[in-house]
Amino acid sequence: MKQSPLHTVLCERLGIEYPVVAFTHCKDVAAAVINAGGFAVLGEAMHTPEQIAADIRWLRQRIGGKTFGIDLVLPAAVPEQRSLEELLAQIPAEHRAFERSIKAKYDVPDPKRPPDLYQWGGLDQSRGLKQLEVVFDERVPVFASGLGSPAFLLERAHQLQMQVWGLIGKPRQAKRQIEAGTDVLIAQGYDAAGHTGTIGTFSIVPQVVDLCAPRGIPVLAAGGVTTGRHLAAALALGAAGVWTGTLWLASRESDVNQPLKERLIEASCTDTWHSDCLSGFTMRTLVSPWHREWTSEGAPAVLQPPLQSLLSAEYIQASLDHQRKDLMTEAAGQGVDYVTAMKPARQVLSDLVDEALDTLERLGGGTQ
Ligand SMILES: Cc1cc2nc3c(=O)[nH]c(=O)nc-3n(C[C@H](O)[C@H](O)[C@H](O)COP(=O)(O)O)c2cc1C
Repeated sequence: MKQSPLHTVLCERLGIEYPVVAFTHCKDVAAAVINAGGFAVLGEAMHTPEQIAADIRWLRQRIGGKTFGIDLVLPAAVPEQRSLEELLAQIPAEHRAFERSIKAKYDVPDPKRPPDLYQWGGLDQSRGLKQLEVVFDERVPVFASGLGSPAFLLERAHQLQMQVWGLIGKPRQAKRQIEAGTDVLIAQGYDAAGHTGTIGTFSIVPQVVDLCAPRGIPVLAAGGVTTGRHLAAALALGAAGVWTGTLWLASRESDVNQPLKERLIEASCTDTWHSDCLSGFTMRTLVSPWHREWTSEGAPAVLQPPLQSLLSAEYIQASLDHQRKDLMTEAAGQGVDYVTAMKPARQVLSDLVDEALDTLERLGGGTQ
């Protein structure tokens, strides 16, 4: 029987049907994508070690022995160890005053609970490492790291038969991770949601494919993938699959709140800004009053990570707690124009696959 042109080395290695990886913070989305023949990596950077262990158990119970991944952030640019109070105390008075002026100007209420960001593994290195211990204890099949190099944990992960995947945005980072022995590289372009560099997806992917080819390391294309045409193009660039985030945010199972889903559906690519005003790292997110104020004349310089994240945390939490659609922001990529309906995740996947197959047929051939 003729094999599907979508059956790549990634499908072989993971035992999956489609070379589509969903990055998601939502367990229900992860379970739906895995059970529909794709692969999912659950973002757990905002959770305590106890919550991460519980989420892994939850997911395992619903996917019947299939593989999955967990993603954490391990930035080297943050202090080794600091309490939340110590970090909050480092925010300069000028920046607090500017934050207060934004809250007053846009009538931003107080959040109803402490910001989720207070648990972020990226606040200091010790938090990320404690989260990582759970991933090792649970022998998670795939570990991915979005911020920071996973090189230091490779040996231990491989001893436990875990795969380690690394997200990179520059050829220099790719070379380092190839040398270190990373199992899969995710070449993420400027189009992508979240923390990203400045090289476009079409430029970074083939370069990383060429760098990885001699060692047979599969590459996933990330950044702006929201249609089947993107998936077909990624395979044409030599990728073994795609790594997607924005695509799933407005899906029916997604726990993103309703006004934010509506904003994502309404948004176009120019509504996503590449800015460091939320976290101190450059990041693509839906534009909000917070962005406009931090890029206005007279705004203070953005703080170093993780202080800028702590400064924006109350604004973000308040927008969610009070359902203030006008204030909300979220990581979102330039492919957001194609997020046009709240479909079940299974359907999002099957639409992507169908369009990719049609595209490849239209072009008159298969891929690898
Ligand atoms: C809401 C959201 C949160 C994200 N948070 C993380 C994260 O915690 N860790 C990470 O490695 N990547 C994170 N990302 C980036 C994704 O892993 C992925 O690289 C990106 O979404 C790909 O671009 P796309 O959104 O255009 O598909 C996030 C993306 C989104 C949409």
